[in-house]
Amino acid sequence: TASHRIVVLPGDGIGPEVTAAAVAVLEAVSAHFGLALAFEEHAIGGAAIDAGGEALPAATLAACQAADAVLLGAVGGPKWSDPKARVRPEQGLLALRRGLGLYANLRPVKPHPAALGASPIKPHLLAGVDLVVVRELTGGIYFGDKTRSADAASDLCSYSVAEIERVVRSAARLARARRGRLVSVDKANVLETSRLWRETTSRLMAEEFPDVALEHQLVDSMAMHLIARPRDYDVIVTENMFGDILTDEASMLAGSLGLLPSASLGDGRNGVYEPIHGSAPDIAGRGIANPYAAILSAAMLLRHSLGLAEAADLVEGAVAQALDRGVLTAELAGDGRAAGTLEATAAVVAAIVAAGSPAA
Ligand code: NAD
Ligand code: IPM
Ligand code: MN
Repeated sequence: TASHRIVVLPGDGIGPEVTAAAVAVLEAVSAHFGLALAFEEHAIGGAAIDAGGEALPAATLAACQAADAVLLGAVGGPKWSDPKARVRPEQGLLALRRGLGLYANLRPVKPHPAALGASPIKPHLLAGVDLVVVRELTGGIYFGDKTRSADAASDLCSYSVAEIERVVRSAARLARARRGRLVSVDKANVLETSRLWRETTSRLMAEEFPDVALEHQLVDSMAMHLIARPRDYDVIVTENMFGDILTDEASMLAGSLGLLPSASLGDGRNGVYEPIHGSAPDIAGRGIANPYAAILSAAMLLRHSLGLAEAADLVEGAVAQALDRGVLTAELAGDGRAAGTLEATAAVVAAIVAAGSPAA
Protein backbone atom coordinates (compact mmCIF):
# COMPACT_ATOMS: atom_id res chain seq x y z
CA THR A 1 0.00 0.00 0.00
CA ALA A 2 1.24 3.47 -0.80
CA SER A 3 1.96 5.55 2.26
CA HIS A 4 -0.04 8.71 2.90
CA ARG A 5 1.68 11.60 4.67
CA ILE A 6 -0.63 13.52 6.98
CA VAL A 7 0.57 16.65 8.72
CA VAL A 8 -1.20 17.26 12.04
CA LEU A 9 -1.44 20.84 13.32
CA PRO A 10 -3.01 20.70 16.82
CA GLY A 11 -2.84 24.46 17.49
CA ASP A 12 -4.37 25.96 20.62
CA GLY A 13 -7.08 25.47 23.25
CA ILE A 14 -9.15 22.37 22.48
CA GLY A 15 -7.24 21.97 19.17
CA PRO A 16 -4.81 19.35 20.60
CA GLU A 17 -7.70 17.49 22.31
CA VAL A 18 -9.80 17.13 19.17
CA THR A 19 -6.91 16.41 16.76
CA ALA A 20 -5.74 13.62 19.09
CA ALA A 21 -9.25 12.17 18.81
CA ALA A 22 -9.22 12.41 15.00
CA VAL A 23 -5.78 10.78 14.81
CA ALA A 24 -6.95 7.92 17.06
CA VAL A 25 -9.85 7.33 14.67
CA LEU A 26 -7.58 7.47 11.61
CA GLU A 27 -5.29 4.91 13.29
CA ALA A 28 -8.29 2.61 13.78
CA VAL A 29 -9.35 3.04 10.15
CA SER A 30 -5.78 2.45 9.06
CA ALA A 31 -5.65 -0.84 10.97
CA HIS A 32 -9.06 -1.83 9.57
CA PHE A 33 -8.11 -1.32 5.92
CA GLY A 34 -4.38 -2.01 6.22
CA LEU A 35 -3.48 1.53 5.18
CA ALA A 36 -0.08 3.11 5.70
CA LEU A 37 -0.74 6.51 7.24
CA ALA A 38 2.29 8.50 8.42
CA PHE A 39 1.57 11.33 10.87
CA GLU A 40 3.86 14.29 11.37
CA GLU A 41 3.05 16.98 13.92
CA HIS A 42 3.91 20.68 13.47
CA ALA A 43 3.30 23.96 15.27
CA ILE A 44 0.81 26.65 14.25
CA GLY A 45 -1.00 29.53 15.93
CA GLY A 46 -0.38 30.61 19.51
CA ALA A 47 1.68 27.51 20.25
CA ALA A 48 4.00 28.41 17.36
CA ILE A 49 4.19 32.05 18.47
CA ASP A 50 5.24 30.90 21.94
CA ALA A 51 7.83 28.54 20.50
CA GLY A 52 9.43 30.83 17.93
CA GLY A 53 7.57 34.11 17.46
CA GLU A 54 5.73 33.20 14.26
CA ALA A 55 2.14 31.99 13.75
CA LEU A 56 3.06 29.92 10.69
CA PRO A 57 6.72 28.84 10.88
CA ALA A 58 8.36 28.22 7.49
CA ALA A 59 8.96 24.57 8.47
CA THR A 60 5.22 24.09 9.10
CA LEU A 61 4.21 25.55 5.74
CA ALA A 62 6.88 23.49 3.95
CA ALA A 63 5.70 20.29 5.66
CA CYS A 64 2.08 21.06 4.72
CA GLN A 65 3.07 21.72 1.10
CA ALA A 66 4.88 18.38 0.96
CA ALA A 67 2.04 16.43 2.64
CA ASP A 68 -0.85 14.51 1.13
CA ALA A 69 -3.25 16.21 3.57
CA VAL A 70 -3.32 18.42 6.65
CA LEU A 71 -5.44 17.88 9.75
CA LEU A 72 -5.86 21.00 11.89
CA GLY A 73 -7.41 21.63 15.31
CA ALA A 74 -7.92 25.33 16.00
CA VAL A 75 -5.84 28.42 16.71
CA GLY A 76 -6.17 31.45 18.96
CA GLY A 77 -7.07 32.32 22.51
CA PRO A 78 -7.02 35.08 25.10
CA LYS A 79 -3.27 34.74 25.66
CA TRP A 80 -2.59 36.05 22.14
CA SER A 81 -5.58 38.37 21.69
CA ASP A 82 -4.08 41.71 22.75
CA PRO A 83 -5.29 44.14 20.04
CA LYS A 84 -1.78 45.62 19.99
CA ALA A 85 -0.05 42.26 19.44
CA ARG A 86 2.52 42.23 16.62
CA VAL A 87 1.52 38.75 15.50
CA ARG A 88 -1.74 36.83 15.94
CA PRO A 89 -2.47 33.07 15.83
CA GLU A 90 -5.26 33.60 13.29
CA GLN A 91 -2.74 35.05 10.80
CA GLY A 92 -1.07 31.64 10.75
CA LEU A 93 -4.26 29.93 9.68
CA LEU A 94 -4.98 32.52 6.98
CA ALA A 95 -1.40 32.27 5.68
CA LEU A 96 -1.71 28.47 5.54
CA ARG A 97 -4.95 28.62 3.52
CA ARG A 98 -3.40 31.16 1.16
CA GLY A 99 -0.05 29.40 1.01
CA LEU A 100 -1.68 26.15 -0.10
CA GLY A 101 -4.11 27.90 -2.48
CA LEU A 102 -7.18 26.47 -0.72
CA TYR A 103 -9.89 28.71 -2.11
CA ALA A 104 -12.92 26.43 -1.59
CA ASN A 105 -14.01 25.58 1.95
CA LEU A 106 -16.71 22.90 2.10
CA ARG A 107 -18.84 22.98 5.24
CA PRO A 108 -21.52 20.26 5.21
CA VAL A 109 -24.50 20.52 7.56
CA LYS A 110 -26.54 17.36 8.11
CA PRO A 111 -28.30 17.20 11.48
CA HIS A 112 -28.27 13.82 13.17
CA PRO A 113 -31.53 12.65 14.81
CA ALA A 114 -29.82 12.03 18.17
CA ALA A 115 -28.71 15.65 18.40
CA LEU A 116 -32.00 17.26 17.36
CA GLY A 117 -32.88 17.88 20.99
CA ALA A 118 -29.80 20.09 21.33
CA SER A 119 -30.89 22.38 18.50
CA PRO A 120 -32.89 25.50 19.37
CA ILE A 121 -34.77 25.02 16.06
CA LYS A 122 -38.07 23.12 16.00
CA PRO A 123 -37.40 19.45 15.10
CA HIS A 124 -39.95 19.34 12.25
CA LEU A 125 -37.92 22.01 10.42
CA LEU A 126 -34.74 19.93 10.72
CA ALA A 127 -35.84 16.55 9.38
CA GLY A 128 -34.12 15.92 6.06
CA VAL A 129 -31.79 18.92 6.20
CA ASP A 130 -28.70 18.17 4.12
CA LEU A 131 -26.79 21.17 2.80
CA VAL A 132 -23.22 22.22 2.06
CA VAL A 133 -21.89 25.74 2.29
CA VAL A 134 -18.99 26.40 -0.08
CA ARG A 135 -17.16 29.33 1.43
CA GLU A 136 -14.60 31.28 -0.63
CA LEU A 137 -11.48 31.07 1.54
CA THR A 138 -8.54 33.02 0.15
CA GLY A 139 -10.00 36.37 -0.88
CA GLY A 140 -12.36 39.13 0.13
CA ILE A 141 -12.15 41.33 3.19
CA TYR A 142 -9.96 38.83 5.05
CA PHE A 143 -7.06 39.44 2.69
CA GLY A 144 -7.46 43.05 1.49
CA ASP A 145 -5.14 45.86 2.52
CA LYS A 146 -5.66 47.05 6.08
CA THR A 147 -4.96 50.51 7.42
CA ARG A 148 -4.91 51.81 10.94
CA SER A 149 -4.33 55.26 12.41
CA ALA A 150 -5.11 56.55 15.88
CA ASP A 151 -8.72 57.35 15.07
CA ALA A 152 -9.62 55.31 11.98
CA ALA A 153 -9.18 51.88 10.42
CA SER A 154 -10.10 50.18 7.16
CA ASP A 155 -10.25 46.70 5.63
CA LEU A 156 -10.46 46.48 1.85
CA CYS A 157 -12.78 43.89 0.29
CA SER A 158 -11.84 42.92 -3.24
CA TYR A 159 -12.57 40.01 -5.57
CA SER A 160 -11.42 39.29 -9.10
CA VAL A 161 -13.54 37.52 -11.71
CA ALA A 162 -11.09 34.62 -11.67
CA GLU A 163 -11.39 34.22 -7.88
CA ILE A 164 -15.18 34.17 -8.13
CA GLU A 165 -15.26 31.79 -11.09
CA ARG A 166 -13.08 29.10 -9.53
CA VAL A 167 -15.03 28.82 -6.28
CA VAL A 168 -18.40 28.96 -8.05
CA ARG A 169 -17.19 26.18 -10.36
CA SER A 170 -16.31 24.03 -7.33
CA ALA A 171 -19.72 24.67 -5.81
CA ALA A 172 -21.56 24.03 -9.08
CA ARG A 173 -19.76 20.70 -9.61
CA LEU A 174 -20.75 19.70 -6.10
CA ALA A 175 -24.37 20.75 -6.73
CA ARG A 176 -24.41 18.74 -9.97
CA ALA A 177 -23.31 15.65 -8.01
CA ARG A 178 -26.00 16.27 -5.38
CA ARG A 179 -29.52 17.62 -5.90
CA GLY A 180 -28.62 20.07 -8.67
CA ARG A 181 -29.40 23.31 -6.86
CA LEU A 182 -27.09 26.20 -6.08
CA VAL A 183 -27.84 29.33 -4.07
CA SER A 184 -25.33 32.16 -4.34
CA VAL A 185 -25.30 34.55 -1.40
CA ASP A 186 -24.13 38.16 -1.64
CA LYS A 187 -24.97 41.75 -0.73
CA ALA A 188 -25.40 43.01 -4.29
CA ASN A 189 -27.78 45.76 -3.19
CA VAL A 190 -24.87 47.52 -1.45
CA LEU A 191 -21.45 46.09 -2.32
CA GLU A 192 -19.62 46.45 -5.63
CA THR A 193 -17.77 43.16 -4.99
CA SER A 194 -21.16 41.49 -4.61
CA ARG A 195 -22.42 42.91 -7.90
CA LEU A 196 -19.35 41.46 -9.62
CA TRP A 197 -19.96 38.19 -7.73
CA ARG A 198 -23.59 38.00 -8.90
CA GLU A 199 -22.85 38.97 -12.51
CA THR A 200 -19.95 36.50 -12.75
CA THR A 201 -21.93 33.69 -11.14
CA SER A 202 -24.94 34.17 -13.43
CA ARG A 203 -22.78 34.18 -16.56
CA LEU A 204 -20.64 31.20 -15.54
CA MET A 205 -23.65 29.11 -14.53
CA ALA A 206 -25.46 29.85 -17.81
CA GLU A 207 -22.35 28.97 -19.84
CA GLU A 208 -21.06 25.93 -17.96
CA PHE A 209 -23.83 24.61 -15.71
CA PRO A 210 -27.18 25.15 -17.45
CA ASP A 211 -28.40 21.93 -15.76
CA VAL A 212 -27.86 23.34 -12.24
CA ALA A 213 -30.64 25.57 -10.89
CA LEU A 214 -29.21 28.88 -9.69
CA GLU A 215 -30.81 31.28 -7.23
CA HIS A 216 -29.36 34.49 -5.75
CA GLN A 217 -30.03 35.54 -2.15
CA LEU A 218 -29.01 38.60 -0.18
CA VAL A 219 -27.02 37.62 2.89
CA ASP A 220 -29.28 39.25 5.46
CA SER A 221 -32.42 37.47 4.34
CA MET A 222 -30.38 34.29 3.81
CA ALA A 223 -29.50 34.36 7.52
CA MET A 224 -33.25 34.22 8.16
CA HIS A 225 -34.17 31.63 5.49
CA LEU A 226 -31.41 29.31 6.70
CA ILE A 227 -33.22 28.94 10.01
CA ALA A 228 -36.79 29.19 8.71
CA ARG A 229 -36.54 26.66 5.86
CA PRO A 230 -33.17 24.87 6.00
CA ARG A 231 -34.52 21.85 4.09
CA ASP A 232 -34.82 23.95 0.93
CA TYR A 233 -31.05 24.25 0.51
CA ASP A 234 -28.62 21.99 -1.31
CA VAL A 235 -25.38 23.87 -2.06
CA ILE A 236 -24.79 27.46 -0.97
CA VAL A 237 -21.80 29.41 -2.33
CA THR A 238 -20.65 32.68 -0.85
CA GLU A 239 -17.72 34.98 -0.14
CA ASN A 240 -15.26 34.48 2.68
CA MET A 241 -16.80 36.48 5.53
CA PHE A 242 -20.46 35.69 4.78
CA GLY A 243 -19.56 31.98 4.72
CA ASP A 244 -17.79 32.26 8.06
CA ILE A 245 -20.82 33.80 9.73
CA LEU A 246 -23.55 31.74 8.06
CA THR A 247 -21.88 28.45 8.99
CA ASP A 248 -21.60 29.21 12.71
CA GLU A 249 -25.30 30.03 12.43
CA ALA A 250 -25.92 26.77 10.54
CA SER A 251 -24.21 24.81 13.32
CA MET A 252 -27.36 25.39 15.35
CA LEU A 253 -29.29 23.27 12.81
CA ALA A 254 -26.99 20.39 13.79
CA GLY A 255 -27.13 21.30 17.48
CA SER A 256 -23.50 22.24 18.18
CA LEU A 257 -20.45 23.89 16.66
CA GLY A 258 -18.70 20.73 17.76
CA LEU A 259 -20.47 18.73 15.03
CA LEU A 260 -19.50 20.62 11.87
CA PRO A 261 -16.41 19.55 9.89
CA SER A 262 -14.78 21.25 6.94
CA ALA A 263 -12.51 20.62 3.99
CA SER A 264 -10.44 23.39 2.44
CA LEU A 265 -9.53 22.54 -1.13
CA GLY A 266 -7.66 24.05 -4.05
CA ASP A 267 -6.74 22.76 -7.50
CA GLY A 268 -4.56 19.92 -6.25
CA ARG A 269 -5.35 16.93 -4.07
CA ASN A 270 -3.85 18.28 -0.88
CA GLY A 271 -6.22 20.02 1.52
CA VAL A 272 -6.64 21.26 5.07
CA TYR A 273 -9.28 19.53 7.18
CA GLU A 274 -10.54 21.19 10.33
CA PRO A 275 -13.66 21.57 12.42
CA ILE A 276 -15.38 24.91 11.85
CA HIS A 277 -15.22 25.73 15.56
CA GLY A 278 -12.40 27.58 17.28
CA SER A 279 -10.11 26.87 20.20
CA ALA A 280 -12.98 27.14 22.74
CA PRO A 281 -10.88 28.68 25.54
CA ASP A 282 -13.88 28.43 27.88
CA ILE A 283 -13.70 24.62 27.91
CA ALA A 284 -10.07 23.92 26.93
CA GLY A 285 -8.06 21.45 28.98
CA ARG A 286 -11.09 19.91 30.67
CA GLY A 287 -11.52 16.86 28.47
CA ILE A 288 -15.11 17.78 27.57
CA ALA A 289 -14.76 19.14 24.01
CA ASN A 290 -16.84 17.45 21.33
CA PRO A 291 -14.41 15.56 19.06
CA TYR A 292 -16.99 14.65 16.37
CA ALA A 293 -16.37 17.72 14.17
CA ALA A 294 -12.63 16.94 14.08
CA ILE A 295 -13.32 13.24 13.46
CA LEU A 296 -15.76 14.06 10.64
CA SER A 297 -13.07 16.38 9.23
CA ALA A 298 -10.73 13.38 9.18
CA ALA A 299 -13.43 11.51 7.20
CA MET A 300 -13.45 14.36 4.67
CA LEU A 301 -9.65 14.06 4.52
CA LEU A 302 -9.92 10.37 3.64
CA ARG A 303 -12.52 11.15 0.97
CA HIS A 304 -11.10 14.24 -0.69
CA SER A 305 -7.31 14.06 -0.34
CA LEU A 306 -6.65 10.32 -0.09
CA GLY A 307 -9.44 9.11 -2.37
CA LEU A 308 -10.57 6.56 0.26
CA ALA A 309 -14.35 6.89 0.03
CA GLU A 310 -15.03 3.56 1.74
CA ALA A 311 -12.86 4.54 4.72
CA ALA A 312 -14.62 7.92 4.89
CA ASP A 313 -18.02 6.19 4.88
CA LEU A 314 -16.86 3.93 7.70
CA VAL A 315 -15.83 6.90 9.88
CA GLU A 316 -19.04 8.81 9.19
CA GLY A 317 -21.07 5.71 9.95
CA ALA A 318 -19.14 5.18 13.19
CA VAL A 319 -19.87 8.74 14.36
CA ALA A 320 -23.54 8.25 13.50
CA GLN A 321 -23.53 5.02 15.56
CA ALA A 322 -21.95 6.75 18.55
CA LEU A 323 -24.63 9.45 18.34
CA ASP A 324 -27.38 6.83 17.93
CA ARG A 325 -26.12 5.16 21.08
CA GLY A 326 -26.48 8.46 22.92
CA VAL A 327 -22.78 9.15 23.35
CA LEU A 328 -23.14 12.93 23.60
CA THR A 329 -20.67 15.49 24.92
CA ALA A 330 -21.78 18.03 27.51
CA GLU A 331 -23.04 20.75 25.14
CA LEU A 332 -25.36 18.19 23.47
CA ALA A 333 -26.38 16.09 26.45
CA GLY A 334 -28.59 18.64 28.20
CA ASP A 335 -29.82 17.05 31.42
CA GLY A 336 -28.70 13.63 30.24
CA ARG A 337 -25.40 11.93 30.94
CA ALA A 338 -22.46 13.60 29.22
CA ALA A 339 -19.52 11.75 27.66
CA GLY A 340 -16.05 13.27 27.73
CA THR A 341 -13.80 13.71 24.68
CA LEU A 342 -12.04 10.37 25.28
CA GLU A 343 -15.25 8.42 25.80
CA ALA A 344 -16.82 9.85 22.64
CA THR A 345 -13.64 9.04 20.69
CA ALA A 346 -13.58 5.51 22.10
CA ALA A 347 -17.21 5.02 21.00
CA VAL A 348 -16.28 5.92 17.41
CA VAL A 349 -13.20 3.68 17.48
CA ALA A 350 -15.29 0.82 18.90
CA ALA A 351 -17.81 1.16 16.07
CA ILE A 352 -14.96 0.97 13.54
CA VAL A 353 -13.45 -2.09 15.20
CA ALA A 354 -16.89 -3.72 15.39
CA ALA A 355 -17.31 -3.30 11.63
CA GLY A 356 -14.90 -6.26 11.27
CA SER A 357 -12.46 -6.84 8.45
CA PRO A 358 -13.44 -5.46 5.05
CA ALA A 359 -14.31 -7.90 2.31
CA ALA A 360 -11.22 -8.76 0.28
P1 NAD B 1 -15.21 28.98 19.46
O1 NAD B 1 -15.69 28.29 18.25
O2 NAD B 1 -13.85 28.63 19.93
O3 NAD B 1 -16.24 28.74 20.65
C1 NAD B 1 -17.59 29.19 20.62
C2 NAD B 1 -18.43 28.43 21.64
O4 NAD B 1 -18.63 27.10 21.15
C3 NAD B 1 -17.75 28.28 22.98
O5 NAD B 1 -18.71 28.36 23.99
C4 NAD B 1 -17.14 26.90 22.94
O6 NAD B 1 -17.00 26.28 24.18
C5 NAD B 1 -18.14 26.15 22.06
N1 NAD B 1 -17.46 25.09 21.31
C6 NAD B 1 -16.65 25.25 20.23
N2 NAD B 1 -16.17 24.08 19.83
C7 NAD B 1 -16.67 23.15 20.65
C8 NAD B 1 -16.52 21.73 20.74
N3 NAD B 1 -15.76 21.03 19.88
N4 NAD B 1 -17.18 21.09 21.74
C9 NAD B 1 -17.96 21.77 22.59
N5 NAD B 1 -18.13 23.10 22.56
C10 NAD B 1 -17.49 23.78 21.60
O7 NAD B 1 -15.31 30.55 19.16
P2 NAD B 1 -14.74 31.80 20.00
O8 NAD B 1 -14.84 31.52 21.46
O9 NAD B 1 -15.40 32.96 19.42
O10 NAD B 1 -13.20 31.87 19.59
C11 NAD B 1 -12.15 31.41 20.42
C12 NAD B 1 -10.83 31.49 19.66
O11 NAD B 1 -10.83 30.56 18.57
C13 NAD B 1 -10.55 32.85 19.03
O12 NAD B 1 -9.19 33.15 19.23
C14 NAD B 1 -10.83 32.65 17.55
O13 NAD B 1 -10.07 33.47 16.70
C15 NAD B 1 -10.43 31.21 17.38
N6 NAD B 1 -11.06 30.51 16.27
C16 NAD B 1 -10.27 29.68 15.55
C17 NAD B 1 -10.80 28.92 14.53
C18 NAD B 1 -9.92 28.02 13.76
O14 NAD B 1 -8.79 27.79 14.17
N7 NAD B 1 -10.35 27.48 12.66
C19 NAD B 1 -12.17 29.00 14.26
C20 NAD B 1 -12.97 29.86 15.01
C21 NAD B 1 -12.41 30.62 16.03
C1 IPM C 1 -12.96 29.75 10.89
C2 IPM C 1 -12.39 30.79 11.83
C3 IPM C 1 -11.32 31.59 11.13
C4 IPM C 1 -11.99 32.33 9.97
C5 IPM C 1 -10.51 32.57 11.98
C6 IPM C 1 -9.93 31.94 13.21
C7 IPM C 1 -9.42 33.23 11.18
O1 IPM C 1 -13.40 31.60 12.35
O2 IPM C 1 -12.18 28.92 10.39
O3 IPM C 1 -14.17 29.74 10.66
O4 IPM C 1 -12.60 33.38 10.18
O5 IPM C 1 -11.86 31.86 8.84
MN1 MN D 1 -15.40 30.88 11.86
